[in-house]
Amino acid sequence: MLNLTNSTWRTNMSAKIILIIAASIAVISSICVSSSDPGLLQDFCVANFTSTVVVNGYPCKDPLLVTSDDFFFSGIDQPRSTDNQLGSNITVVGVERIPGLNTMGLIISRIDYAPGGLNPPHYHPRSSEVFTVVEGDLFVGFITTNSDIGNTLYAKKLQKGDVFVFPQGLIHFQFNIGGKRH
Ligand SMILES: *[C@@H]1O[C@H](CO)[C@@H](O)[C@H](O)[C@H]1NC(C)=O
Ligand SMILES: *[C@@H]1O[C@H](CO)[C@@H](O)[C@H](O)[C@H]1NC(C)=O
Repeated sequence: MLNLTNSTWRTNMSAKIILIIAASIAVISSICVSSSDPGLLQDFCVANFTSTVVVNGYPCKDPLLVTSDDFFFSGIDQPRSTDNQLGSNITVVGVERIPGLNTMGLIISRIDYAPGGLNPPHYHPRSSEVFTVVEGDLFVGFITTNSDIGNTLYAKKLQKGDVFVFPQGLIHFQFNIGGKRH
């Protein structure tokens, strides 16, 4: 799972877009997708986790053995425990959970936040992030590195239905300002 002390999210493939969908009543959920790299050379390259070949990503499974379930994950709607120091819990759905994501540089994540819960400042060197609030109220933001405008904070209060973008490589965070708990 995610190591919150690491400044980067470890995904098998790098990503250029991270889409997050969050919901908050008190506990907020989010979904994160990251996509990058040039177009695929084949329709798909479903991960073969048993291969010992070491490449940038997993080797492709035999296409004749690929099934619909290789592109499927269920349960992103399920609330996760936020009973920890940060009051947040990130559920990353990447290639380990959807083998068909292999080589796409794409992930989706859910984030649950307790009241006052924080997804602390971090960045994704090769990923932008699209963040959507499914439920609740969040304060989110990112900080620029551009020398023309200095370290400027772009932040906003978000509520259910809102979408916010965190540009690639910029430090960003989310904080649950909603008061309720499930
Ligand atoms: C995965 O890779 C291993 C080792 O190369 C191979 O024996 C196996 O048949 C592959 N599995 C699939 C489903 O392609
Ligand atoms: C996240 O939630 C899952 C399921 O509720 C739980 O097993 C896991 O320990 C939680 N992680 C953290 C960091 O609280």
